[in-house]
Amino acid sequence: MVLSLRVGLVGAGDAAGHHARALNALHADDTARWSGVCARDPARLDAFCDRHGAPPDALRSVDLDRFLDPAALDAVVLATPDGLHPAHVTLAAARGLHVLVEKPIAPDAATALALVDACRAAGVRLGAGYHLRHHAGHRSVRDNLRALIGPLRHVDVRWAWPDPARDGWRARGRDARWWALAALGTHALDLAQWFAGDGAPVVHGGWMRPASGIDEAAGMSASFGDEVTAHVWVSVEQRAAPRVLLAGLDGELEAVGTLGARGAGAITLRRGGGERLVVPFDGCDPYEAQLRAFVAAVREGRDPDASGDDGARNVALLEQWTHLARRT
Ligand SMILES: NC(=O)c1ccc[n+]([C@@H]2O[C@H](COP(=O)([O-])OP(=O)(O)OC[C@H]3O[C@@H](n4cnc5c(N)ncnc54)[C@H](OP(=O)(O)O)[C@@H]3O)[C@@H](O)[C@H]2O)c1
Repeated sequence: MVLSLRVGLVGAGDAAGHHARALNALHADDTARWSGVCARDPARLDAFCDRHGAPPDALRSVDLDRFLDPAALDAVVLATPDGLHPAHVTLAAARGLHVLVEKPIAPDAATALALVDACRAAGVRLGAGYHLRHHAGHRSVRDNLRALIGPLRHVDVRWAWPDPARDGWRARGRDARWWALAALGTHALDLAQWFAGDGAPVVHGGWMRPASGIDEAAGMSASFGDEVTAHVWVSVEQRAAPRVLLAGLDGELEAVGTLGARGAGAITLRRGGGERLVVPFDGCDPYEAQLRAFVAAVREGRDPDASGDDGARNVALLEQWTHLARRT
């Protein structure tokens, strides 16, 4: 009999809530065992566990060092602030635990690569939290891209969402390097790259607002090989319908409202002659799909999708984007 992977959750905030939903689903069908939650504040920890229905026997801990115990866990999901990822990934890997870490995996490219190396050296799998790869509509479109729109020529990702945490750790640059780029831009970049193919893009231009300090809005243009161009625009200042546009030689696909936590939205295919079709997809929870894929990868001894390498490449691109925008 294969024993369920014992998974601990670190963090009890917004992202952790989405991972808790996924952990509950996998716990219910024995794919994984939700074995514990760790955060700093005991009252918030208890409230989180109660609100999200953590199993009664799941450990509740306010001591990360003791929580990351290979006698109790096989893997951890790290949903802590960006700047804490390096220390937390390193500690988990040193304890022999597989890691699914939220994005961005580190605040700079050199550190991100060091995390990938540390996990490899420790023989554990590192996954990066790009749950939008697991949106059923995104997957279906990507699997059938050429048949739907012919050879891809352009990707455009637009995501603007007014982050209410105007005084949060990210807005203040505490345990964080970026705001709009880390909240939304990193996802947009990952998706553009995932749709365009696996090669790294050439970044041609980037801008940020305000001109210095913490970014609240940012745009970027890039190309993948000779054939595909990309534009990304993100903002935490205002609301605009989140949109992914994939333009090919034979048609275009527009996904509206798919850039969220719950697998929602609609995808439309438009081709010549006024043809207009709604692309069907099931509304499965992308966080649950992500965790299932992570557990499967660990079991099968391969890198998860997205991998630590994907996460590190993304951080390098965020850094390039920043340098172009800031001319540093
Ligand atoms: N995939 C997505 O779309 C998505 C969405 C949102 C966030 N995220 C990512 O998820 C991460 C967390 O963001 P968030 O918005 O969830 O932040 P958040 O709401 O502020 O939650 C952060 C959590 O980390 C805990 N924490 C901080 N330091 C800790 C430590 N040393 N040991 C244990 N726990 C610690 C905090 O504990 P206390 O509550 O006790 O202070 C808090 O529960 C970020 O990297 C962010 O980019 C991803």
